[in-house]
Amino acid sequence: MILVTGGAGYIGSHVVKQLLDQNIEVVVLDNLSTGHRQAVDDRVVFWEGDVKDEQTLEQLFKTYSIEGVIHFASSCLVGESVLQPLKYYENNVSATTILLKVMLRQQIKKLIFSSTCATYGIPDTDILHEGSPTNPVNPYGRSKLMVEQILSDCSKAYDLSFISLRYFNAAGAHSSGMIGECHEHETHLIPNVLLHLLGKQDKVSIFGTDYDTPDGTCIRDYIHVNDLADAHIRALQRLLGGEKMTAVYNLGTGSGFSVKEIIEMCEQITGKKANVVYAARRPGDPGRLVASYEKVNREMGWKPQYTLEDIIRTAWKWHLHHPYGYLKEE
Ligand code: UFG
Repeated sequence: MILVTGGAGYIGSHVVKQLLDQNIEVVVLDNLSTGHRQAVDDRVVFWEGDVKDEQTLEQLFKTYSIEGVIHFASSCLVGESVLQPLKYYENNVSATTILLKVMLRQQIKKLIFSSTCATYGIPDTDILHEGSPTNPVNPYGRSKLMVEQILSDCSKAYDLSFISLRYFNAAGAHSSGMIGECHEHETHLIPNVLLHLLGKQDKVSIFGTDYDTPDGTCIRDYIHVNDLADAHIRALQRLLGGEKMTAVYNLGTGSGFSVKEIIEMCEQITGKKANVVYAARRPGDPGRLVASYEKVNREMGWKPQYTLEDIIRTAWKWHLHHPYGYLKEE
């Protein structure tokens, strides 16, 4: 059985579906602070609880025979992390040390960790490799990099095997349209544009038009959430099947799109025109973040299967079916 912390969240819930499709048994631990109970497939065992609660973890590991852990549970908004850094160090760093302590006590030594491209900071190259310098520019990125360092130390001291996956911009939704991205206060670009085109918001703001990019707006590497999920399945197979290993992989597509290009693609797919407002830069936004996925392709045979169009089409299907996400029944 696999423990998935944060399995009621956006990426976690998509990974859980793919684990179940592979007939892997899953127990989800989630405190539902940002996750949604409705996002969790009925076929899993669900525990409502906090990763910081050592007793809950002890009980969970004693109840089930857990072979490995996929650790999503964390706080993950860059802007919020600047205003509330302690929340990030507590939920992301302290919580993970507690999880590791209990795991190791129970002789569970395999972990997949949700990391981020925010570990790189403001890059000085067009394409980011895993060996590119890591100089995070916000507490969120720092908290995730700290955990990567803790994992590395634990692998040496306690024989821990881990794979850290640095996500670029996760987007899109399950093809069923039944699960997707839903945040109480949405900050991400694609859902914001689509919710606007659905009539839920009166405008879409472009944060900054004076970046050093061809159209002046920020470029990001958008990756479909099902492609992310596929990488987790491969990582888990590697961890469970093999010898001790430690690895860090980028998960991106190698292609970048500007904010303007994203809005245009959303207009094309939905057949609606956006009311676009030009706004100031958002603090902490790098101009361009694009991944090389060469390493994960070489070592795990992973490559993205979904295009930007697929990402926007599946996200649009989700928002059309669930205009309030999980927050309210239609
Ligand atoms: N943007 C807008 N208008 C919006 C929302 C976003 O112009 O309404 C812009 C942002 O300024 C940025 C781009 O669209 O340039 C993408 O923004 P998102 O908020 O969708 O995503 P981020 O790139 O800021 O964040 C993502 C992940 C974080 C991760 C970060 C690394 O969500 O978890 O990448 O930089 F840390």
